[in-house]
Amino acid sequence: MKKVLVVGGAGYIGSHTVVALANRGYEPVIVDNFYNADPKVLAGLTDILGKKVSLRFADAKNYQELAQIVHQEGGDIHGIIHFAAYKYVNESLSKPLDYYRNNLDSLLNALQLAVDFHIPGLIFSSSCTVYGAPTEAPVKESALSLGLATNPYGKSKEMGERICEDVAKRYEDQLRVLSLRYFNPIGAHPSGLLGELPTRETQNLVPILLEIVRGERKSIKIFGEDFDTPDGTCVRDFVHVMDVAEAHVTGLEYAAQRRQSSAYDFINIGTGTGTSVRQVVEGFQRLNDFPLEVEVTERRAGDVPAVYADTTKAKSRLGWKAQYTVDEALVHAYQWTRHYLGTS
Ligand SMILES: NC(=O)c1ccc[n+]([C@@H]2O[C@H](COP(=O)([O-])OP(=O)(O)OC[C@H]3O[C@@H](n4cnc5c(N)ncnc54)[C@H](O)[C@@H]3O)[C@@H](O)[C@H]2O)c1
Repeated sequence: MKKVLVVGGAGYIGSHTVVALANRGYEPVIVDNFYNADPKVLAGLTDILGKKVSLRFADAKNYQELAQIVHQEGGDIHGIIHFAAYKYVNESLSKPLDYYRNNLDSLLNALQLAVDFHIPGLIFSSSCTVYGAPTEAPVKESALSLGLATNPYGKSKEMGERICEDVAKRYEDQLRVLSLRYFNPIGAHPSGLLGELPTRETQNLVPILLEIVRGERKSIKIFGEDFDTPDGTCVRDFVHVMDVAEAHVTGLEYAAQRRQSSAYDFINIGTGTGTSVRQVVEGFQRLNDFPLEVEVTERRAGDVPAVYADTTKAKSRLGWKAQYTVDEALVHAYQWTRHYLGTS
């Protein structure tokens, strides 16, 4: 079985990708320092897969630790999927050094590992934040130019992509690197056994709804209802986390099997459809029969009215398109939280 190193694999998207990899015949090896992951997710992985997944505790900022893992795995690694990063936009404004150090050092080490051990494919978790505040939607990959990202988190992704491109070009004979620019991953595994469980304070919409379900928060705030959108609230591209997970397996095959003709490539991962914040909040209540206390407040600085992906490239290069609906994602997220609480 082909081994894939999943760096940051105990986190939200990483753990779901581990399921997708195992289902498609790969042997995932999780590498994580549990900075923002709860070891409880591992039980869910075991339940879904019917066996334990290899797990290595390591800090991706430390190259020696990573290299030792590859040695211990027999050196035979088919690909690296690099999720490890700090991911909160607001926090990155107050801790820019921490964000640049963690997000860039860990990526440099992952690339170094790929080069040193002749690992043929590496996927980098990029983000739609690299587009900054786009004025047009859907957003095409070509909308990226340097300097659009508006915060250290987004800039670490933008710089990360540049680094990937330069390294991939230099080692083109042995390596393909693919950046996946995700829009807004939400939801949980359809079994309800695995889902998002951050250990840090979250800033994202659906995790906040789940905090309310867990009794950790009272109400949800909608920031502004006077945007130029159909219902006045911001529109985003919410994509089911299992669809995002599948995109990684397909993306790794595209890169490592060299169907990717250029040394470096970058692809949007979204549904291609915008859904408003109000639609998500109302859908969550209706689908799960869970009433929420909703508060509408002022707009947040920097929020743009509508951001959703142009997915043409994902379809043409990867043959990938999202399969789940936003409604399904909201139901799966709720089921996961009920399971976590022991009330499902
Ligand atoms: N969730 C989103 O909305 C979203 C959107 C776009 C891009 N991304 C990117 O996708 C990736 C995964 O996101 P996520 O939502 O799963 O985040 P997450 O925080 O749940 O997962 C990241 C994982 O990396 C681990 N990690 C962080 N630094 C590490 C280090 N130095 N060494 C080892 N492990 C480390 C964390 O413990 C965590 O398990 C991140 O790079 C994030 O920036 C996420």
